[in-house]
Amino acid sequence: MSLQQITTIQPNDSTQPSGPLAGARDQFGRVIDYLRISVIDHCNLRCVYCMPEYGLKFLPVGELLTPAEIASVVRVAVDAGFRKFRLTGGEPTLRPDLLDIVRQIAAIPGASELAMTTNGILLPDLAKPLVEAGLRRVNIHIDSLDSARLTKIMRWGKLEDIWRGIEAAEAAGLTPIKLNAVVTRGYNDEDVAALAALTIERDWHFRFIEMMPFGSGECAQLARDQYISNDEVRARIEAAHGPLTELPAADVSDESRNYRLPNARGVVGFISPVSAPYCGSCNRMRLTAEGKLHLCLLNDDEMDIKKQLRQNGPDAVREILLKAVHQKPVGHRLHEGLFTQNRRMFQIGG
Ligand code: 5AD
Ligand code: SF4
Repeated sequence: MSLQQITTIQPNDSTQPSGPLAGARDQFGRVIDYLRISVIDHCNLRCVYCMPEYGLKFLPVGELLTPAEIASVVRVAVDAGFRKFRLTGGEPTLRPDLLDIVRQIAAIPGASELAMTTNGILLPDLAKPLVEAGLRRVNIHIDSLDSARLTKIMRWGKLEDIWRGIEAAEAAGLTPIKLNAVVTRGYNDEDVAALAALTIERDWHFRFIEMMPFGSGECAQLARDQYISNDEVRARIEAAHGPLTELPAADVSDESRNYRLPNARGVVGFISPVSAPYCGSCNRMRLTAEGKLHLCLLNDDEMDIKKQLRQNGPDAVREILLKAVHQKPVGHRLHEGLFTQNRRMFQIGG
C-alpha cells in the first residue's frame, strides 16, 4: 500500500469496537486482532540498529507485568477479538518466568496462536520446554552467515550460538522456521544472497526487514545513514540466484511480501515499512514490558494498562484496550521525518 492510499483511509464511525469473534475495529475500519507482548527490555545482544552498546538503563523487575497480569490482558484481548499473540523483548528468553508466561497464555481458549521473536541463543535449553508449555512458532534474527560480519552487526552475538538455536527450534517443532535480518549498508548487505539461499534446500522463511529509525541516538542516525531499500536487496538476491516468483498472500495483514527462488523449498520475504508502508492493513497493537499499550510502532501514543489493571481490575483493561484500538494512528509519518522519539525498538519489541 502506498502512503497516498494510507492517508486517504477515511474514519468509519459505524465500525465501533465489537465483542468476541468480530475482532476489534479501529476508527479507520482496520480489524486489530494481533497483540505483540514485550516481556522484558533487556537483551543479551546489542545489534547495531537496535541498541547502543553501553549506557542503557533497563526496567526494574517490579515494573514488569507479572505472568498473571499478562494473562489477564490476553484474556481481555481475546474477548475483544484478538486472535494472534507474540512474545517479544528485548530478548524474551531472558525472562526467568518465560515458561510460566507461555503456559498461562496458551491455556486461554482463543489464544493458542502463540509465537515468539528471539535471537535464539538460549533456545538449545528452552525450545523443548517452550513447546511443552504451548509455544507454537519462533522468529529468529540472524543478520549474516559470516562469523566476523555477524559479530560486527549483532555485536555480542556469535554465529554458532544462533545457529544452534535455530537447529534446536526446528528439532522441537517450532516450525515453519522464520528467520529475520535487518539489512544495514556496510554491515550485512553483502550477505543477502547467502541468507536467501538458506531457503533453497530448507523449508524455511527468510525475511529481509528495512531498517527503521527510533529515538534520537546512534541507532536513529544509523537508520538514516545505512538504510537500504528492499528493492535493492531483492535485486542483489535475483542477480545471484535468478528471478523470485511472488506467492499469493496467505493473509492480508501479513507485513511480508513473499517470494520463492527458482526450485526452492522455502520462502523469501520482504518487510518494507520504509519504502512500501503497510499501515493501511495493520492489524496489530503492542504491549510494552511495563504495561503500556503502544498504539503504533513508529508513533509515541501510549496508554497505561498496568495502572488500570492494578487499581481497577480487568474490566478497566477492556475499556482501555478498546479505546486504544479505536485511537490507533492511521499510519507512520516517516516520509515527514517523524517517528517514535520516546521509545526504541528493544522497548517495543518490533
Ligand atoms: N529496524 C527494523 N527492524 C529492527 N529490529 C530491531 N531493530 C530494528 C530497526 N531499527 C528487528 C529485529 C527483530 C525484531 C525484534 O525487530 O531484527 O527481528
Ligand atoms: Fe537484542 Fe533483538 Fe535488539 Fe538484537 S534486535 S539487540 S537481539 S532485541
